[in-house]
Amino acid sequence: MHLVVATDEQKAQRDALTHSEWGALLTVEGYAAREQRLRAHPWSRVDMRTWLLCDDAGDVLASCETFRTDSFLRAPDGAFLPGDSFAIASVFTEERLRGRGHATRLMDLLAAELERQPRAHAALLFSDVGPRIYARSGYQALPAWDWHLAPAPGAPGEPVEALLREEDMARALGRLRRPEAPFFFWPSPAQLDWHLERGRIYVDHLAGCSLPASVGATVGDSTALWGLVGRGSELHVLMFDARSAEDATALLQAARREAFRSGLSRVVLWEEPANASLLPLVEGATRVARKGSLPMVRPLLSELPLSPLLPVPRGLWV
Ligand SMILES: CC(C)(COP(=O)(O)OP(=O)(O)OC[C@H]1O[C@@H](n2cnc3c(N)ncnc32)[C@H](O)[C@@H]1OP(=O)(O)O)[C@@H](O)C(=O)NCCC(=O)NCCS
Repeated sequence: MHLVVATDEQKAQRDALTHSEWGALLTVEGYAAREQRLRAHPWSRVDMRTWLLCDDAGDVLASCETFRTDSFLRAPDGAFLPGDSFAIASVFTEERLRGRGHATRLMDLLAAELERQPRAHAALLFSDVGPRIYARSGYQALPAWDWHLAPAPGAPGEPVEALLREEDMARALGRLRRPEAPFFFWPSPAQLDWHLERGRIYVDHLAGCSLPASVGATVGDSTALWGLVGRGSELHVLMFDARSAEDATALLQAARREAFRSGLSRVVLWEEPANASLLPLVEGATRVARKGSLPMVRPLLSELPLSPLLPVPRGLWV
């Protein structure tokens, strides 16, 4: 068995098979078009690969995708040392081939391949099938809690200083504090736009919903970035840096109003170490154990300092 990088034709063949898993709301053709459109997005064009586990005859046994993501190691003097991490998505084995260890083999061979990349830091994935299968391949699960807030009527801009537009995304991302952790992942503006691209694709399939007019908000030094990001009619907070409970409340109040204005069903914010103590102080925010998308990390560098306090914002999801 061996690992190969898929050609465009092989990617299209996998799309036809994976539609049953990930194509809800879309026809087979609509799902293929979604996949092509997402692969053509600037982030994917540069940083995405599709990997195939093949047998000796060249038949495909399992597949997955990787997206390169920036990550940083803190040097003893506090400087950030940049490197490459890889977010893994769409791990798939056809039903008739399941239970024979193909996905595990794929993950093992892929990790060995990624370890050979010159600037490799870590691999990251979001398991929808629990931790066990990926733990076998060296992945450690991180906490996965969400905060839910109901949409609320009112002018979204009123509780905050400014609402952000798409063209503000890069500047706004630059305002966010980098995590305190000795190692962390950090998305690029193109990576965050990839989430919005998913929303642009799905919005026509979501009755009564429109694309949110804002992509986030600022108040004081605090910043939130958000969007409609998939087939769930929710406003997902992608990045969140609130310097106080008051700022967290103001940003989330703006998000609730934006969700209401866009016909979305709720606001979802992923808990991170830096916001965990503030969110219980936000009125109307409810903490919920996340279903699916369990973050799991595997070092690709032997001395990588991993901690359960490693932040994984929603903006890193693939
Ligand atoms: C998950 C999947 C990739 C596993 O492929 P596979 O080649 O059968 O994997 P392996 O043989 O290496 O390992 C199978 C293990 O996965 C577990 N598994 C598969 N689906 C699971 C699920 N929905 N929930 C929990 N565990 C699951 C099996 O129970 C088995 O565990 P065991 O060996 O401890 O009994 C395959 O079932 C699949 O394509 N599912 C649909 C797509 C999907 O959910 N992908 C994962 C996204 S994170």
